[in-house]
This record gives sequence, C-alpha cells and structure tokens, in this order.
Amino acid sequence: MERCQQCGSEIERAALFCSQCGSPLRNGSAGSSSAEAPTTAAVTAAEAPAYPSPRKPSSFRPASHPSRDEGRFTPGMLIAERYRIISLLGRGGMGEVFRADDLTLGQPVALKFLPESMIDELRLERFRNEVRIARRISHPNVCRVYDIGETGNHVFLSMEYVDGEDLSSLLRRMGRLPRDKALEIARKMCAGLAAAHDTGVLHRDLKPSNIMLDARGEVRIMDFGLAGLAHEIKDVRSGTPAYMAPEQLVGKEVTVRSDIYALGLVLYELFSGKPAFAGKAHDEFMRVRRERPPHRPSKLIHDLDPAVEMVILRCLEEEPDNRPSSALIASAALPGGEYLIAIYRPDDYDPSLETEAMDRDIDVLNDEMVAAGARMFVAGLSPAGSARSLRPQPDGTLLVTDGPYSETREHMLGFWVLKAADLNEALAWGRKAAIACRAPVEVRPFHS
Ligand SMILES: Nc1ncnc2c1ncn2[C@@H]1O[C@H](COP(=O)(O)OP(=O)(O)O)[C@@H](O)[C@H]1O
Ligand SMILES: [Mg+2]
Repeated sequence: MERCQQCGSEIERAALFCSQCGSPLRNGSAGSSSAEAPTTAAVTAAEAPAYPSPRKPSSFRPASHPSRDEGRFTPGMLIAERYRIISLLGRGGMGEVFRADDLTLGQPVALKFLPESMIDELRLERFRNEVRIARRISHPNVCRVYDIGETGNHVFLSMEYVDGEDLSSLLRRMGRLPRDKALEIARKMCAGLAAAHDTGVLHRDLKPSNIMLDARGEVRIMDFGLAGLAHEIKDVRSGTPAYMAPEQLVGKEVTVRSDIYALGLVLYELFSGKPAFAGKAHDEFMRVRRERPPHRPSKLIHDLDPAVEMVILRCLEEEPDNRPSSALIASAALPGGEYLIAIYRPDDYDPSLETEAMDRDIDVLNDEMVAAGARMFVAGLSPAGSARSLRPQPDGTLLVTDGPYSETREHMLGFWVLKAADLNEALAWGRKAAIACRAPVEVRPFHS
C-alpha cells in the first residue's frame, strides 16, 4: 500500500489524489497547486479503464475566451471535499463543465456547475426534482447522472465523464459522416431517447452538442432532465433555443413528439453535415426557421438514401401528430433497421415443434412505419406443419384457420401481413399470434 507524501495516509493504487488531504499523488509534489492539470500518464494499463486519458475539450474555444481558459476553477482544486478538478471540458448555455476525479469512489466524473444567478431555493428544488427523475434512466446511450453537490455558492451536478467529443464539434471538424457511421449513431440516439421516453422523461433540449461519442464510438445523450433549467437561462441569454419544436417555441404542450422534432434536426445535420436552418447568428437562424420549412436534405446531399430523408422529414413535420410517435419507430424506419422490437414466447410453447418451418413469418403491417419510410415489419414464426391464416376480428380477437395463406387478402410476399394502426397494435397482434400459433413470435421492422 502506498502512502501520501503530504499527510501519510494510506492510498489506493489507482488513486490520483489522496482521499484524506486531496493532494495529487503523481506528477510532482504532493499538495502543490500547480496550474498544470494532473495527468493520468502514470496510471498503468491495467488501471487505465477507470481513468481515460485526458482529451482536448471539444467545445472549449480558447480563442474566444482568452482570459477564462480555466473557467471558474483551476486544475487541482478540491470541490466539496470530494472532487479534484482536472480540467475545463466546455462551456454551454447553463454554465461550465469540468472533468474531475471523485476521490471517494476513485472514478473520473464530469461536474456541471450552475450559474450563481440561478441559485435560489425554488429553482434548486426544481433542479433536485429533475435530477431525481433523470437518475431513473439507465441505458448505455444515455449519460448517467450521479448526484447533486452543493458547496459554498456553488451548485453542481456530477455525472458520468465521457471521454470523447460532442457531435456538434465532430460535425464542425469532419463535415458529413460516412453513411454507415451516421446510421449507427442515429440508431443509438434513437435507442437512448426511446429508453428515456419509456421512463417518462422528456429531453427538451436535444441538439448536437448534447450528443457525445466516446473513444470507442459509443453514443451518449447528455443532459436529460436539465432542459427546464437550461431553457430558463437561454431565454434570458440567447433568445429561444434553436432546436426546439414549433409547439415548444410558442409555449404549447411539450411531448415525446417535441423531442422527435429535435431528433429530426439532429439527424438532418448528421446525414447532411449541415444544419437544417442556416444562419450565422442565433437570431438569423431563428428568423430563417420561422420563415420556411427546411430544404429537403437531398437537395444538399444528392446520394442521400430516400428512407433516411423520409424519416428526417417526418420528424420535422410541423404538426406533432404527423411525426413518428416514438424514437423506436423512427429508428425502425431507417435503412437496414433489422430491429427486434419484441419477442413473445407463449407459456405453453413446445420447443419440439420448432423446425425449419419456423422461418415462415407473419408480418404485421404498421401503417405508421410505412409512412415513416419503412416498408414494414414484423412477425411471427409459425410452428411446423401448421401454416395458418391469421385474421384480426373486429372484436380484437385473432381468427386462426388452417387454410393456405393465399385465401387471405393480407398475404403478401410470402408473409402473413396483419394491418395494424400503430406499433402498439402491432405488438398486441404479435402477442396474440404467439398464443394462437403456440410458437415464439418476433416483432421487428422488416425492410424488403
Ligand atoms: N459528462 C460529460 N463528459 C465529458 N464532456 C462533457 C460532459 N458534459 C458536457 N461535456 C462537454 O462540455 C460541453 C458543454 O456542456 P454543456 O454545458 O452541457 O453545454 P451545451 O449547452 O453545449 O450542451 C459539451 O459540449 C461537451 O463537450
Ligand atoms: Mg449539454
């Protein structure tokens, strides 16, 4: 066991700072408050995963803030007797974000500080409430929120540190991303968004700078649950946020479909490399937004896949009801969306019935997915030797007969096709089909 040179306390091997006195343990003398951020170069390979190497802050632009390079805290400072500041990661609408080490748990974290002007009891209570809700989301594509910290005049949020780059900076640097990479990012964004929506959390501030890609290319959606507060600040500082849905701009009810609109704007940029609405300054950008719908992205990018364009334009419909009802549907409608939505296995399923005939699918036609650009999707696997016709009945039951599928109008392309008004109905039919056929039924989007 090593000991801290400053106070003599025992220290963990992987620790960068002493958990007793907070002194840096590597790179120089303990207890020094050098402006040089302690680096992780001394950490061994085996310990590396807990301490990703420091990266260049992506949205931190020294040129525009020459006198404030380090933000309000300098590297090495100890915050709330627990967090050692490593470096400034960026500045956004809400305040500054720092990389820090959590000395108690020996983990890297990101700390987001609220502007001091925002700190009053009413707002703090709202902030705590939003964080309470955001902590319910657990998904690999959503940045984990850990806790709120309060010390002196500072209130901050601790969250997962993402060693990577935000999409806004990536797009500025690279322009349009290769199609497959863009599709992968789009799907992961949709998955994270859908998981949050399932938990009942809206984002309300989805935009490229709130999407991060880590060193392995994993996607994280940042700042869930913080939008309420962020908007309050932005309304004062920079007018109305550029990625808000039209109904949000006029103060109407914000729903899942408002996040879907913002998703459409992010997808637009992801696939075309350009924002949907041009305008150098924020006001100009907002004026263009008010005056016209976005240009079709295929006008900018001639080889854009029509299915991608369809998804984008559907997400950007003015009328919320005309947008895809969920991020999952938007994702399912993207090209190559072999997306397994659900699998049903009836209680009395007999695996001995499973033979090669199981590859016969029963598709459930989902008009909404079709409209969103997909040609459709999903279905069941029929047990051996028992090809059946499945017909939805007006009373909601499923009529199962032994006749050949050619008897049914719903038969198409060798699959059974059940028309469903929306994804929930498709899922319900999938469940019924599983019970009726006594076989597992998969529900998935299908692209012919
Ligand atoms: N958890 C995090 N891990 C790593 N970097 C982060 C994290 N959160 C934010 N950042 C960086 O700090 C920048 C500013 O963040 P934020 O204050 O949320 O501003 P914005 O309004 O641009 O979202 C982001 O663009 C990102 O580059
Ligand atoms: Mg952010």
